[in-house]
Amino acid sequence: MSSLLRIVRFTRSLAPLYTAVIIASVLTAVAGLTVPFLIGHATDTVSGAVNGTTPTGTAVRTVLLIAAAVLLAELLNTVISNVGGWFGDVMSNRMRTILSVRYYDKLLHLPQRWFDGEITGTIVARLNRSITEITNFTKMMSNSFASMLITTVAVLAISAWYAWPLTVLLLIVFPVYVWLTSLTSVKWQRLEGEKNEQVDIASGRFAEVVGQIRVVKSFVRERGELEDFSRRFRSTDATTRAQSSHWHRMDVIRRAFLNLIFFGIYAIIFVRTVQGQFTLGEMVLLVQLMTMAKAPVESMSWVIDAAQRAIAGSKDYFRVMETPVDPRTAAVMAARPVDAADAGHAGGTASAEEPRPAGTTSSIGEAGAAAAPAASGTAVALAERPRIEPVPGAPVVAFRGVDFAYEDGDDVLHGIDFQVDRGEKIALVGESGGGKSTIVNLLLGLYEPRNGAVEVVGHPSSDLPLDQLRSRIGVVFQDASLFSGTIRENIAYGRPEASDEEVLEAARRANADAFILRFPEGYEQVIGERGLKLSGGQRQRIAVARAILKDAPVLVLDEATSALDTKAEIQVQKGLDQLMAGRTSLIIAHRLSTIAEVDRIITLRDGHIDEIGSPAQLATSGGIYAQLLALQSSGDSRKLAKFDITG
Ligand SMILES: Nc1ncnc2c1ncn2[C@@H]1O[C@H](COP(=O)(O)OP(=O)(O)O)[C@@H](O)[C@H]1O
Ligand SMILES: [Mg+2]
Repeated sequence: MSSLLRIVRFTRSLAPLYTAVIIASVLTAVAGLTVPFLIGHATDTVSGAVNGTTPTGTAVRTVLLIAAAVLLAELLNTVISNVGGWFGDVMSNRMRTILSVRYYDKLLHLPQRWFDGEITGTIVARLNRSITEITNFTKMMSNSFASMLITTVAVLAISAWYAWPLTVLLLIVFPVYVWLTSLTSVKWQRLEGEKNEQVDIASGRFAEVVGQIRVVKSFVRERGELEDFSRRFRSTDATTRAQSSHWHRMDVIRRAFLNLIFFGIYAIIFVRTVQGQFTLGEMVLLVQLMTMAKAPVESMSWVIDAAQRAIAGSKDYFRVMETPVDPRTAAVMAARPVDAADAGHAGGTASAEEPRPAGTTSSIGEAGAAAAPAASGTAVALAERPRIEPVPGAPVVAFRGVDFAYEDGDDVLHGIDFQVDRGEKIALVGESGGGKSTIVNLLLGLYEPRNGAVEVVGHPSSDLPLDQLRSRIGVVFQDASLFSGTIRENIAYGRPEASDEEVLEAARRANADAFILRFPEGYEQVIGERGLKLSGGQRQRIAVARAILKDAPVLVLDEATSALDTKAEIQVQKGLDQLMAGRTSLIIAHRLSTIAEVDRIITLRDGHIDEIGSPAQLATSGGIYAQLLALQSSGDSRKLAKFDITG
């Protein structure tokens, strides 16, 4: 329950809609409640006419008036409940928007480490389920259950006026019903959690398989994948059977109890009417009121069912929302708040003037306050934080005794110590798995060193705001990761506002222009998920163009041309050489020829720095580089492959 209250607090910008829904529910209930009174009155009038105490003409006029009043009340009820339903729909949709946007905002700012341990499809499945279940519940509450509950409270008061034993019986029904339902709940929720886990795992695998369908097909693993998938879903059948038997068994007990209580209620009403304590009209009134009170009790079990799903959903939701972000990410989030409520404006339903306190500008203001003290109240200050200037004369990049491990256990990097001066070109050479890409990850601040420090332009990298740090570094990753969409969008990913001329120029320098223009749509060509419709070499050239357009002072190339054939590589290399001119560059090469011109080479062995020196120095030192050169000239590609090096 507390987690549902949290959802309400979390979406307090919807307060006007909540209020509208509650007002509509009260009015619906009031309009609905007048009907039994009118019918009761009509019954008395009719029985008066039948007994001859009221003249027929008067009685007819009265009952016609009453019928008209019933019509009015029912029309009002219809209209108001539909207006309330409209507010309920808008409210639940805006709630979904807020919850989804904040979840995405949160995910985008979680540390790289968190993503290392998650599977994309599972994250998505969990998000969809939890948010759908929360919003379904609120929709149900607002569309019907709220007015039913209000009706019930009114019925309790009215029945107390006519006959207190009825009230007592009704008062017994509710707590017993809730108690019986909560007995059901514990087991039900545990089983639901088991089912969700299986479904989430299956969905995660599903997304992964679809994303890499080529591999699946080539290894003829369709059947195996399908079997895994159906096994997980089938396992939820058994759980559902147990869950549902339990639920329905408990429901029989609950409903039988309800029937018993209503036996007492009807007995009291009928006997007292016969004894003359109630008129016929009062009897009709009370029977109708009791029926009205029964509706929420009967639907309570499925309301509670939906509430349980919503509670489970909101727990899942907040589990992610509470994952600590590191304070540096928190600062970036606070500086560029994404207003979740804004996203609703497109639908034209949001109120534009919603004020939001400073502390809630991003999800962390809410859920991660403890992890991100910087986020509350300081968003404005952070948005205007000054750009940190380079320390004059300091190296652009420096690793100072860096030890690093991805997980607890063995270090991947040991005592890494080097610096790159302004305008210098440095190459990293070493065995595959030796930690070259890891050095890039640390430089980008994707992970923090376990010991030592990474310094950028003279400041400890951990002191630099992440957006400022990362805007200084242009990277071509080892796996040229592109997005679905057009070629133009991909090249301009880092600078969506770039002009066509700039995009063209970047593509030309990456030697991508020629092949792009061969596509029927040219730069507007859609390239499929992760750029699947391009060849590896084409993808790499787009990734190079993307980095060229970013025009960052530091350039990092992680085997940026490994997927290119020698001819294309030479051409791209020309573009890169031009780009590197006067720029600080860190190059992880897969071909020794491309690094012959660098200022210094750093060789890595098992996460240790082996040697640092100019190509000429290292060529004769007998170290890794010299061995590689020798291997290359002897043409032993088998040994070279171990070093991610080709001849
Ligand atoms: N996200 C990760 N989580 C755990 N271990 C990783 C991760 N990325 C790389 N590693 C491990 O770190 C080591 C160095 O990897 P990497 O830096 O990619 O090597 P390379 O020199 O080939 O670029 C490897 O043993 C690899 O298994
Ligand atoms: Mg690598």
